[in-house]
Amino acid sequence: MTDLATLEAQIVGAIGTASDLASLDAVRVSALGKTGSISGLLKGMGALSPDERREQGPLINGLRDRAQAALATRKADLESAALDAQLASEHLDLSLPAPPRRRGGVHPTMQVMDEMIAIFAEMGFAVADGPDIEDDFHNFTALNFPPKHPAREMHDTFFFEANAAGERMLLRTHTSPVQIRTMVSQKPPIRIIAPGRTYRKDSDQTHTPMFHQVEGLVIDRDIHMGHLKWTLETFVGRFFETSDVVTRFRPHHFPFTEPSAELDVQCDRTGGELKVGQGQSWLEVLGCGMVHPNVIRNCGLDPDEWQGFAFGMGVDRLAMLKYGVPDLRDMFASDVRWLSHYGFSAFAAPTAAGGLS
Ligand code: PHE
Repeated sequence: MTDLATLEAQIVGAIGTASDLASLDAVRVSALGKTGSISGLLKGMGALSPDERREQGPLINGLRDRAQAALATRKADLESAALDAQLASEHLDLSLPAPPRRRGGVHPTMQVMDEMIAIFAEMGFAVADGPDIEDDFHNFTALNFPPKHPAREMHDTFFFEANAAGERMLLRTHTSPVQIRTMVSQKPPIRIIAPGRTYRKDSDQTHTPMFHQVEGLVIDRDIHMGHLKWTLETFVGRFFETSDVVTRFRPHHFPFTEPSAELDVQCDRTGGELKVGQGQSWLEVLGCGMVHPNVIRNCGLDPDEWQGFAFGMGVDRLAMLKYGVPDLRDMFASDVRWLSHYGFSAFAAPTAAGGLS
């Protein structure tokens, strides 16, 4: 009797002083586990005489029941205390202002696209767009690529599986198909730029399979290369934020322009830093030319009445040049640490009046 009372007092005491779930479980094992004190008493009942068993049985069972109940109560208390502690430590005041540390940001490519839109908008260009998934007609044929012309392969096109009619859709290799879509759907005069994603099967240190271009198209009467040159020189000066830009046209070939040229900008690359408007180097910036009469005709317009120029530039590369990004592949790595270094505040959108960068 006294033994049982002492044992119960001991167990209840240990339950009360167990300060966490692990030590409470240790108490449970020592009393009710395989070799626990109460389990030992229960096992010993077999050796008692029937009379003793009748007397001791209810006492031992009662002890076991009370010990189990005390363990359960204590366990519930400890669990709710643990939850309270966790809730208190994770307390978050949602009425506080957001932390000042900027984690993400506007990607340099998007920032530069917004800058380009702001510059060309100031010159009276509207923004047009077209689908990323194009057909052969808009990406090649209407742009005066002859059938089987190597230029089609030159673009390393991603083709989809052919449909029932045997036509293969493709991921547009340049933004030039937007020229076609605009001329077909809109009456001249036309003055648009088309920013967007473009795709080529190309992946190395200086090429990614997806990249960005901004296309430009002007169609009007009596448009000539002088207009093209002025437009591009004005753009380059505004973009690199300097008044003394020196540019040169280098003859080139595109099926959809005639004559065609690439525009280079004079720059200085000494010391690993790029300075536009000085130095001995030339930086290739874009492709351009006078829209080929066949292209104008393919869009249902009369090339004797309407002429124009077009240009197309790689946005990612210009973003790297302007903001000193050393590796193209980082531009597409989706690393938030990189973005917090090179990214721009969403509150600093470029405008012609408010400043570009
Ligand atoms: N589409 C050409 C390219 O991706 C660029 C270009 C556009 C050239 C418009 C001339 C006129 O390389």
